[in-house]
Amino acid sequence: MPPETIPVIAGQTVQPVEYRKIQSLTYQVAGIDLRDGKEALVASRLHKRMRELGLTDVSRYLHVVEADRTGLELITLIDALTTNFTSFLREPQHFDFLRGVIVPALSMHDSLRIWSAGCSTGEEPYSILFHLAQALEGKRLAGVELLATDISTRALGVASSGIYPAERMKELPEAWRKRFFQRGVGEQEGMVRVREEWRSRVRFRRLNLMEEFNSVPAMNVIFCRNVMIYFDKPTQQRLVRRFAERLEPGGWLLIGHSEGLMGMEHELTYVMPAVYRKPSGRKG
Ligand SMILES: C[S@@+](CC[C@H](N)C(=O)[O-])C[C@H]1O[C@@H](n2cnc3c(N)ncnc32)[C@H](O)[C@@H]1O
Repeated sequence: MPPETIPVIAGQTVQPVEYRKIQSLTYQVAGIDLRDGKEALVASRLHKRMRELGLTDVSRYLHVVEADRTGLELITLIDALTTNFTSFLREPQHFDFLRGVIVPALSMHDSLRIWSAGCSTGEEPYSILFHLAQALEGKRLAGVELLATDISTRALGVASSGIYPAERMKELPEAWRKRFFQRGVGEQEGMVRVREEWRSRVRFRRLNLMEEFNSVPAMNVIFCRNVMIYFDKPTQQRLVRRFAERLEPGGWLLIGHSEGLMGMEHELTYVMPAVYRKPSGRKG
């Protein structure tokens, strides 16, 4: 076996030249900075898709990706390589901030526009919605517009179906489980589903943050948590500026607690860890 070949599963290897090709594709298309040393992970993730296509060779697979004019195979490749880890009420300080600061600050507004950018399988936008449903009365709740986007069609499929294994609700209070979910029966035993009346309040849409998003309306709040961590600094910097443009004056950007905007140039002001605000433009 040549020393540079990395063994993974029987018959599955990623050669250095193939890995570099994958790194370049994921960076160009999704901004994802796939570091060296992840070859085994990448090979095991690609394995499933290659098996579906009856392929055993990564180079052949990359050829298929490049030859596919529809771009769908490229989406499938990115899908296989993105990390979709998430959970309900993840980083709960943000939800306290939403209810304790943002909602009161916008109490005079008729509408509240929130964007979960990089929403993965939906737990983040649903957590936002459940908190707002607890905090707001009918008319104000009706004025909430919740947009949830991700690059991964696989993750968005789960998000829009709202179906999860019941144990994923363990972070949620009992009263919320009853109010927002229905239990699966028969073949769906052990699964839960976000009730239709709540699911229909979130607008799920595929959106690659590397592409322009001028069609997204001006937002009061943008959640982009645990997404930029996969991008390099210049890509993060560009994205933060574009988010700032899409915020209403006085709007908030919430990022993951392990992320930071230190050393970046942007117009946002620091509020507290992982919370930034666009100046309102008002004097005094
Ligand atoms: C770790 S999840 C974070 C989910 C959620 N925001 C949270 O904090 O729990 C990261 C998500 O970012 C998405 N993502 C990665 N690159 C992206 C891009 N270029 N455009 C849009 N979404 C992207 C991935 O598909 C994945 O679902």
